[in-house]
Amino acid sequence: MPKQRPFLSDVGELRRRARAHMAQGAVTSSYGGDVKEVCDLLNHALATEIVCVLRYKRHFFMATGINKDPVAAEFLQHANEEQAHADLIAARITQLGGEPNFDPVGLATRSHSEYVEGNSLVEMVKENLVAERIAIESYGEMIRYIGEKDVTTRRMLEDILAMEEEHASDMLDLLETHFPEATAAGGAAKATASRKPRRRSN
Ligand SMILES: [Fe+2]
Ligand SMILES: [Fe+2]
Repeated sequence: MPKQRPFLSDVGELRRRARAHMAQGAVTSSYGGDVKEVCDLLNHALATEIVCVLRYKRHFFMATGINKDPVAAEFLQHANEEQAHADLIAARITQLGGEPNFDPVGLATRSHSEYVEGNSLVEMVKENLVAERIAIESYGEMIRYIGEKDVTTRRMLEDILAMEEEHASDMLDLLETHFPEATAAGGAAKATASRKPRRRSN
């Protein structure tokens, strides 16, 4: 019978490796990714989140019209949640030994989603829906790229992705509720939206 490989590496070797590169913090020699590449990618995600904070804040303060209150409240909640995502990402970059890029120069270029002001409440909601759909696509790509190379980063991105999906769903709900004429899919979109799980309260 072939000798089974032990589940853990030799404990002595594990301890030796951990001590050998202490200055690398959370990045051990079993780290499967390219740390620089992962930090670069996370800096794009950080820029995307910051641009989303700025866009939602602008929309929160500029919201007008009869439907302003519930829509502005949703914008503000999203701004706060995008800020929390930015903080998580920045913390992970530093944990990996990198530097979070908060430089306003080039921010819009590094970001995947765009900063669009919108001239009316309905335009703002539509722009946010587009931006959330871009974020969903780009987080999906990052997650597939990272795969098993860095499980902690991947899990963080998966949690953020789940929230971006809620955000997109919230924007569709706002369109359906307050601007039904603005949604091309009309009733079909409403039926889909009503099947989504309700967002958690936080
Ligand atoms: Fe976000
Ligand atoms: Fe979002």
